[in-house]
Amino acid sequence: MALNPKIESWKGQRVWVIGASYGIGAEIGRELIKLGARVALSARSADLLQQIAANTETIVAPLDVTDVEGVRAAAARINAAWGGIDLVLIVAGTHVEMRAEDFDLARAKKLFAVNVEGVLNCLDPVLPLLLAQKHGGVAVVASVAGYRGLPKALIYGATKAALINLTESLYLDLAPRGIGVYLVNPGFVDTPLTQKNDFKMPALMPADKAARATLAGIAAGAFEIHYPKRFTRWLRLLRHLPYPAYFAAVRRLTGG
Ligand SMILES: NC(=O)c1ccc[n+]([C@@H]2O[C@H](COP(=O)([O-])OP(=O)(O)OC[C@H]3O[C@@H](n4cnc5c(N)ncnc54)[C@H](OP(=O)(O)O)[C@@H]3O)[C@@H](O)[C@H]2O)c1
Repeated sequence: MALNPKIESWKGQRVWVIGASYGIGAEIGRELIKLGARVALSARSADLLQQIAANTETIVAPLDVTDVEGVRAAAARINAAWGGIDLVLIVAGTHVEMRAEDFDLARAKKLFAVNVEGVLNCLDPVLPLLLAQKHGGVAVVASVAGYRGLPKALIYGATKAALINLTESLYLDLAPRGIGVYLVNPGFVDTPLTQKNDFKMPALMPADKAARATLAGIAAGAFEIHYPKRFTRWLRLLRHLPYPAYFAAVRRLTGG
């Protein structure tokens, strides 16, 4: 059952992708341009955004998600240029591996500042805009690492769990007003973020495929979009185990 309005065609849709300079967000931006959407691209690396936008009418709006004034200014600029926004994809995020033995408060706070506060900074101008339009949607990229506690994900997992809960609440508030809310939970995707991992990542997915899966899920009106299914469906099962069985299964599967 579709929980959100469907998107029949991307042609002419006004889509703002935040976190679009490389990785999954960049591939989403490229794909949207190919599909004929009107696209705005944001991240800190203006040069990389320019390369993706090359020779198209794509808006390049560099920003740092930890700077709310910059995010507000970009939102105002894009909204003024288009006279409205149909979809905002908040993809920006970062990852630091951490376990209890190497707990580092400064790095933990930085991860929360980008992954959680960064999303709140994006929602600050976007929610009033969508509510005033009575139309459009917002997608938040969290992670399957936010389902339940995992080894090596001491802080990252907590940031993503916060986003999953936040996006569920957003759905309850916004769906009755006709606004789409999408929760994107990737498994392992091959990007600069995962290229530093020193362990074998099950079912690692190419970033362009992840981008297409994200857009297909949104177009179909799904609430949760998760991929690759051959990995995420196991995690979705583990999610429902009682604690003794969950902890034992995770230890067995990860050695952690
Ligand atoms: N790859 C995976 O396996 C995987 C799995 C689950 C969830 N995810 C999530 O999916 C999202 C994208 O992941 P990815 O693998 O594509 O990561 P990535 O390759 O590291 O790309 C991250 C993107 O976010 C932008 N970004 C980072 N910090 C930012 C900031 N402070 N302000 C503005 N933009 C910022 C980066 O651009 P600049 O550096 O130019 O700012 C880049 O465009 C993240 O939220 C990640 O947690 C990824």
